[in-house]
Amino acid sequence: MAAECKHFVAKHQIFLVVYAVLFLFTQHTSAKNVLIIVADDAGFESQVYNNSVCKTPHLNLLARQSVVFNKAFTSVSSCSPSRSTILSGLPQHQNGMYGLHHSVHHFNSFDQVRSLPLILQNAGIYTGIIGKKHVGPEYVYPFDYSETEENHSILQVGRNITYIRKLVRRFFQKSSSRPFFLYIGFHDPHRCGHSHPELGSFCEKFGDGITNGTGFIPDWKPVYYNPKDVKVPYFVPDTPAARADIAAQYTTISRLDQGIGLVLHELYAAGHLNDTLILYTSDNGIPFPNGRTNLFDPGLAEPLLVSSPHHKEEWGKTSESLVSLLDIVPTVLDWFQLPYPKYKLLKKSVTLTEGTLLQCLQATVFMRSPCTIQCAQSVLTSINSFATSTTRCLSQ
Ligand SMILES: *[C@@H]1O[C@H](CO)[C@@H](O)[C@H](O)[C@H]1NC(C)=O
Ligand SMILES: *[C@@H]1O[C@H](CO)[C@@H](O)[C@H](O)[C@H]1NC(C)=O
Ligand SMILES: *[C@@H]1O[C@H](CO)[C@@H](O)[C@H](O)[C@H]1NC(C)=O
Ligand SMILES: *[C@@H]1O[C@H](CO)[C@@H](O)[C@H](O)[C@H]1NC(C)=O
Ligand SMILES: *[C@@H]1O[C@H](CO)[C@@H](O)[C@H](O)[C@H]1NC(C)=O
Repeated sequence: MAAECKHFVAKHQIFLVVYAVLFLFTQHTSAKNVLIIVADDAGFESQVYNNSVCKTPHLNLLARQSVVFNKAFTSVSSCSPSRSTILSGLPQHQNGMYGLHHSVHHFNSFDQVRSLPLILQNAGIYTGIIGKKHVGPEYVYPFDYSETEENHSILQVGRNITYIRKLVRRFFQKSSSRPFFLYIGFHDPHRCGHSHPELGSFCEKFGDGITNGTGFIPDWKPVYYNPKDVKVPYFVPDTPAARADIAAQYTTISRLDQGIGLVLHELYAAGHLNDTLILYTSDNGIPFPNGRTNLFDPGLAEPLLVSSPHHKEEWGKTSESLVSLLDIVPTVLDWFQLPYPKYKLLKKSVTLTEGTLLQCLQATVFMRSPCTIQCAQSVLTSINSFATSTTRCLSQ
């Protein structure tokens, strides 16, 4: 009996070892990662969105390997609140980030919020943030690897693409073979006239290698534009001042675009181009009249590219589905096949209001089925886009 038992245990142990090896092997070959790139106050100044003047070759390349969403909206047109919705999946009024996080504003999400980085960290995924964070508190939004404005100059960590490239490379060295979640917050193409007027209205002189005393960003080849050529959005008055401003914005977008190219190159060099879900978006509209902070389409509409290596047959397509930045958390959880935790906020059970975009990717041609429900939900969260979008949405 004892011998039989021992025999059983031994056999069992062998199976365990075999399973462990299989598990490791499977883990390795089907490793799934997520890279989210959030630009700061970026809009649709890209050929991806039919702006033929502002050149964004790297974003174009990413778009060719993505589904491009034409009707994506944030639920709030302000930096910290919008970022809190991207990272928590809960609208700002539910997660507590009603206003800006930094200095005197001092807004924070509620202590009990279970953010995306927290959920992923608990699931053993290596989490990283590089660049602009602008949300808190730290224990609600913890990252294993964190190089942000909290302990760097925002110019370096958010606009110096050579510096960013180095931090991204270090992240991949540290993540080694673990599945990862990397969030990169570029500070470009945010305005900077208020804090660094000497660097130009969009910090377009920072590191350009021409302007005296602004240093040099080795990886950036600035692209310049004639104000006569720029495309003035319909909601901005067409004046010489606006045109000069937009030309500066475009030059800064060239730094963002080349930075995205460097990040994607690091991803490739780390061998993860084929097992990483990549999302590109922005926090709110462009910093022009009627844009950022306004409850109009130009304040709330966002660029959104979703590149999934598991949906290659959909690459290059566009989607007219009405989607929200609140969809990002459910999408990432779907990708990692993780459930959203059960918990309460202010004594009420928390549920995500939005859904995964991975279903939308499969349905870009016949997008009615999974995305129609989402349409209805998104309308509720993007109230102000109601007038323009509801008709389109409902007619789908
Ligand atoms: C860009 O132009 C193409 C071709 O005319 C059109 O199919 C597409 O919907 C346009 N995209 C946007 C965002 O307007
Ligand atoms: C910044 O803070 C993070 C988190 O505390 C730490 O891991 C990192 O080493 C710090 N970086 C610098 C340059 O101080
Ligand atoms: C950008 O970062 C690189 C690498 O750290 C550094 O050599 C360069 O001086 C920085 N440029 C500026 C303008 O700060
Ligand atoms: C750049 O600034 C330095 C010191 O401020 C000055 O000595 C130098 O002449 C300036 N160079 C140019 C090209 O303006
Ligand atoms: C990427 O993954 C696909 C399967 O999803 C595979 O067919 C292809 O060979 C892979 N490419 C590379 C470069 O690993």
